[in-house]
Amino acid sequence: MHRSPKHTLNNGVSIDQLGFGVYKVPAEDCADLVSTAIDIGYRTIDTAALYANEAGVGAAVNQAVAGGMPRDELFVTSKVWNTEQGYDSTLAAFDASMEQLGLDYLDMYLIHWPCPERGLFIPTYKALETLYREGRVRAIGVSNFEPEHLTQLLDVCEVVPAVNQVELHPWLAQTPLRALHAELGITTQAWSPLARGAILDDPILVALAAGHGRSVAQIVVRWHVQSGHLVIPKASSAQRVRENLSVFDFVLTDAEMGLIASMDNGRRSGSSPSAVN
Ligand SMILES: NC(=O)c1ccc[n+]([C@@H]2O[C@H](COP(=O)([O-])OP(=O)(O)OC[C@H]3O[C@@H](n4cnc5c(N)ncnc54)[C@H](OP(=O)(O)O)[C@@H]3O)[C@@H](O)[C@H]2O)c1
Repeated sequence: MHRSPKHTLNNGVSIDQLGFGVYKVPAEDCADLVSTAIDIGYRTIDTAALYANEAGVGAAVNQAVAGGMPRDELFVTSKVWNTEQGYDSTLAAFDASMEQLGLDYLDMYLIHWPCPERGLFIPTYKALETLYREGRVRAIGVSNFEPEHLTQLLDVCEVVPAVNQVELHPWLAQTPLRALHAELGITTQAWSPLARGAILDDPILVALAAGHGRSVAQIVVRWHVQSGHLVIPKASSAQRVRENLSVFDFVLTDAEMGLIASMDNGRRSGSSPSAVN
């Protein structure tokens, strides 16, 4: 069984570097798919209220625990959706997520998007700090925050975000943002790490995959792992779920890492943070 290395967040909490994302996994398939992922070796699952599949994630986690897996081997992330931003509404959104998940505590809770035009990410984050202090969540953080949002937040927050989860893949390497995270002690987590599959036809990656006798997805996931950030690819079949975790028995050379770095062209597969409100 392949297992991800661990990464320690800025508050000492441990998370797998390579986790499993469930965006667009239909609610009715989610419990079975997450149980499959856990059987294959994943221990970190990324969901969100928006995905409408928290119940399936929680059911799979509770099933694993009922089968003897210690709850603290598993790590579940969820996120507060944009329309629920604000102090009181975020506390209520957290309760609603926990009800769906059916868990006693959450491992990490993130602000899904900064939504700068709403002007509410600071009171929203204050609610996350309350939940953190109450012990209802082990780590708190943000997602899709640009440098100006982080600066505004850090001016007033008491708990430095553990994570900023952002779109990141070889076409969008986020080099300046990652450098800022390193300076601030914030861990970078890559969403759409395969650019939602669009990058898998890139000829540079196809050639590297042929050279290693690996799939293109494995080359990309391996690039994320060697780049040192967290990564949460999503896949729908057991074969792909397993393939994406099977990246710890080969290494990309410095020259290959450099070649992949040359692919950075700013191409996004999702929305730009300033456009989401
Ligand atoms: N914070 C945010 O705003 C945000 C935004 C987007 C995503 N996320 C998180 O990040 C996770 C991953 O991002 P994502 O789901 O957008 O995209 P992704 O992981 O980059 O790509 C998923 C796509 O790649 C395909 N795929 C996966 N493994 C493959 C393989 N080995 N071979 C061929 N194709 C493969 C999948 O196909 P099949 O499904 O058909 O197998 C799916 O179409 C999400 O699930 C979610 O948890 C967060």
